Amino acid sequence: MKKTLLITLLSTLIIWQLGACYYDVEQELYPGGCDPAQLDTANVTFSGQINTTLKTYCLNCHSTTNAPSLGAGIVLDQYNGVKAYVDNGKLYASVTHASGASPMPKGTGNKIPQCDIVLLKAWIDHGAPNN
Ligand code: HEC
Repeated sequence: MKKTLLITLLSTLIIWQLGACYYDVEQELYPGGCDPAQLDTANVTFSGQINTTLKTYCLNCHSTTNAPSLGAGIVLDQYNGVKAYVDNGKLYASVTHASGASPMPKGTGNKIPQCDIVLLKAWIDHGAPNN
């Protein structure tokens, strides 16, 4: 019976350790500490999160000033330009690297963070309002 107790104790210890490992890698799973499941997807605004994402990852090439030389003339620094590419499906397709669209942001080979993609999807699903 002593042996059973020892095994139980050891198993508990191992499971507890595995749990610790899981928490250790959480930062790697969600860079920036963002867990997509925890996002407030009900209240996404164009002037808030969407504009911030575009500024951070896209406007280097897609601002009014830079679009002619770097962004193929596609302007994403005002609502109408963004809405047009939401409506033709290219905006979401390009950030998710779906086939049939040029993967964006161009040149990096990486996608924008998953949390930003989830928020973009939520905003599009709400009808991409100018809010
Ligand atoms: C380094 C410059 C650069 C960056 C950064 C960039 N783009 Fe682009 N984008 C381009 C160019 C150039 C094109 C024209 C197509 C091509 O050359 O692949 C383009 C095309 C597009 C298109 C049209 C895609 C198609 O298949 O017709 C969309 C939509 C787009 N970009 C959105 C974005 C979004 C959203 C971001 C940020 C997440 C972004 N781009 C970041 C340069 C860039």
